Amino acid sequence: MTETCLPEDRIPVIRIPASPANANTGGSIFGGWIMSHVDMAGSIPALERAQGPIVTRAVESFEFKQAVFAGDLISCYAKILSEGRTSIKVDVEVYAERRQGAKKQCIKVTEAVLVYVAIDENRRPRTLP
Ligand SMILES: CC(C)(COP(=O)(O)OP(=O)(O)OC[C@H]1O[C@@H](n2cnc3c(N)ncnc32)[C@H](O)[C@@H]1OP(=O)(O)O)[C@@H](O)C(=O)NCCC(=O)NCCS
Repeated sequence: MTETCLPEDRIPVIRIPASPANANTGGSIFGGWIMSHVDMAGSIPALERAQGPIVTRAVESFEFKQAVFAGDLISCYAKILSEGRTSIKVDVEVYAERRQGAKKQCIKVTEAVLVYVAIDENRRPRTLP
């Protein structure tokens, strides 16, 4: 089994390496690249809960706590915080695994709360099943 310092009691919904193509001129990864993966990660439990199409309605909070660098392996964890009639609020935490020689660090880099809304065939809000 691979040694890890990530949260052991949870399974990431997305894992992806950050590549130099996604880095800005200062050397860190573009915030927008991370945001798109956070949105995708949050949509996974929301889609399962809604049992059908959803859209991202709001980003309630989004914090870049630490920089991400090319070479980091990103893991996104998503969990439903609450739900309303048509909406689902999801918390997403992002960790970066950073290796320097034999040493590996796991750093919590981002945390966000997003709201997804279930939609019907007319793209109007749909009551959650
Ligand atoms: C999603 C959409 C169909 C909702 O239509 P709407 O007229 O805003 O619907 P409502 O006002 O009834 O809100 C729907 C739900 O979202 C919640 N909501 C609306 N605005 C919100 C906000 N700013 N923050 C948190 N929740 C919000 C409402 O409370 C409601 O939840 P509930 O039914 O669980 O109580 C419409 O806003 C839309 O199509 N938006 C674009 C979505 C999109 O394309 N996203 C991709 C990014 S571009």
